[in-house]
Amino acid sequence: MDFKGSHILSIEQFERADIERIFEVADRMEPYALRKRITRVLDGAILGNMFFEPSTRTRVSFGSAFNLLGGAVRETTGFESSAIAKGESLYDTARVLSGYSDVICMRHPQAGSVAEFAAASRVPVMNGGDGPNEHPTQALLDLYTIRKEVASKGRSMDELRIAMIGDLKYGRTVHSLCKLLKVYNNVTVTLISPRELQMPEELVEGLREVGHQVVVTDQLEGSINSDIVYSTRIQEERFGSKEEADLYRGKFRLNQQIYTKYCEPNTVIMHPLPRDSRAEANELDNDLNENPNLAIFRQADNGVLVRMALFALVLDVVDGVDKYSSDVNWYRPE
Ligand code: NCD
Repeated sequence: MDFKGSHILSIEQFERADIERIFEVADRMEPYALRKRITRVLDGAILGNMFFEPSTRTRVSFGSAFNLLGGAVRETTGFESSAIAKGESLYDTARVLSGYSDVICMRHPQAGSVAEFAAASRVPVMNGGDGPNEHPTQALLDLYTIRKEVASKGRSMDELRIAMIGDLKYGRTVHSLCKLLKVYNNVTVTLISPRELQMPEELVEGLREVGHQVVVTDQLEGSINSDIVYSTRIQEERFGSKEEADLYRGKFRLNQQIYTKYCEPNTVIMHPLPRDSRAEANELDNDLNENPNLAIFRQADNGVLVRMALFALVLDVVDGVDKYSSDVNWYRPE
């Protein structure tokens, strides 16, 4: 695809070569993300960061990625602080904000809303999560992480075995990840969830159509001997009530004892975060924190690299990143 000026709305827009290109640019961003070098390639550019649902990592890492490329960030968070609370349409908001920004990142509770907004925007729009639908940049950073983690263990991506655990019905990160895994060969995907929260059928079919093995189960024990276990949170905000979400919370917990008993010694543990650490949920126990295969914070760090790469590609400055770079002046611990 031609990245220049493109919206980033769904994983379906990428082919394998596009994903390789994003990852190759992401690798080149490392000195800047680690503050070993500074670049001003986006000096003067403005990111409009619009988050109408709670977010820590996605919002801050989009913002940091833009800052690290030398650009400035304008932020709107929550409906109550935007004119949408006064009845303004997505169309009008998009027309106005795209006059103030060079690129817009948006998260919104309704499926399809970010694409609707993008259709009216005069600048590229990136989907930071549209309801239960998709979260394409998270899937890209997840896949980038999976590739690095399996490579560090001397394994290949083709023939990968991955187990996804938790709320697979409403979890947009696993929806986008299932679409993304279709670019590889012979992947085994084990989908572990309560029956009521299973992965949507069309996504399961999509995996099977490309020849992947899919196992659907409601049993954690015996199903997590994979290369990767990808745990997720019960998406409480998508349920009718807290009580309904409570029915499923805490059903699938991973802790060191279960890991030792059922996982292979090198199984990598991932989670898009936030992990629900309340006692009634505790999907990934703190006793895994010292486990070297717990990749959740490396995964979150990779979000900056992948989002820097997307900005550089969409704003067409990949070649300028090094050209407009200089040394770092301040002290930073290693
Ligand atoms: C995820 C999301 O918002 O979909 N978080 C994230 O962006 N890293 C997962 C979640 O909220 O459970």
